Amino acid sequence: MEAKKIFGGVFKIESKLATLNLVKGNRVYGEELVEIEGKQYRLWTPYRSKLAAAIMKGMKHMEIKQGSKVLYLGAATGTTASHVSDIVGKQGIVYCIEISERSVRDLVKACESRPNMLPMLKDARDVDSYSGDTGICDVLYQDIAAPDQADILARNSALISQGGYAYVAVKSQSIDVTKSPERVFKEFIEGIAQEFEVLEKIDITPYTKMHLFLVLRKR
Ligand SMILES: C[S@@+](CC[C@H](N)C(=O)[O-])C[C@H]1O[C@@H](n2cnc3c(N)ncnc32)[C@H](O)[C@@H]1O
Repeated sequence: MEAKKIFGGVFKIESKLATLNLVKGNRVYGEELVEIEGKQYRLWTPYRSKLAAAIMKGMKHMEIKQGSKVLYLGAATGTTASHVSDIVGKQGIVYCIEISERSVRDLVKACESRPNMLPMLKDARDVDSYSGDTGICDVLYQDIAAPDQADILARNSALISQGGYAYVAVKSQSIDVTKSPERVFKEFIEGIAQEFEVLEKIDITPYTKMHLFLVLRKR
């Protein structure tokens, strides 16, 4: 078996995506661990992670790198955030913002063995409540199914530097069920165009439906 590097910290092992495990032996959500030449990898399923889905669908700009400081909005129980934690490594950090107390209970467990992953029980609309802790970040990752996804992005863009990157999973059904997904996505992009340049628009079906995955650069 061979681990073929796709991006720094992201690999393909026999057509499956994987990240190099930051903490040997650590599993976050029951994922499979694979040993190759003394290194341990965590398999990363695109059916449970929109970032993995975007990579599987050919995403080109991977700005989440070793040492990156990532502001992660909508961390849930830490599935994708834990792979981001693998990618940024010991020199990086992942601030995990999550509004649900129930999810945060599991998120805290995931963070216990990962020193670069910080759980924060916060509402991503209330940027002032965490900006003092996070400071300015290199990358914003947003996966929040809410009607005001664009507004949440606009508020948090203050926490990424000019030229910094944002990865956003836009869920059309949470924004407006009466409009077609295409129209919702078009309006979302028009709404953020002044502040962000759209680098990639990735259709992440069949892994997740009704979502558009955007790679953005702050102007
Ligand atoms: C689709 S799930 C995220 C899945 C996660 N990103 C992953 O891939 O592992 C969306 C999460 O956003 C959280 N959320 C919704 N509104 C929020 C808000 N205003 N602030 C922070 N988190 C929020 C939800 O509680 C939920 O856990």
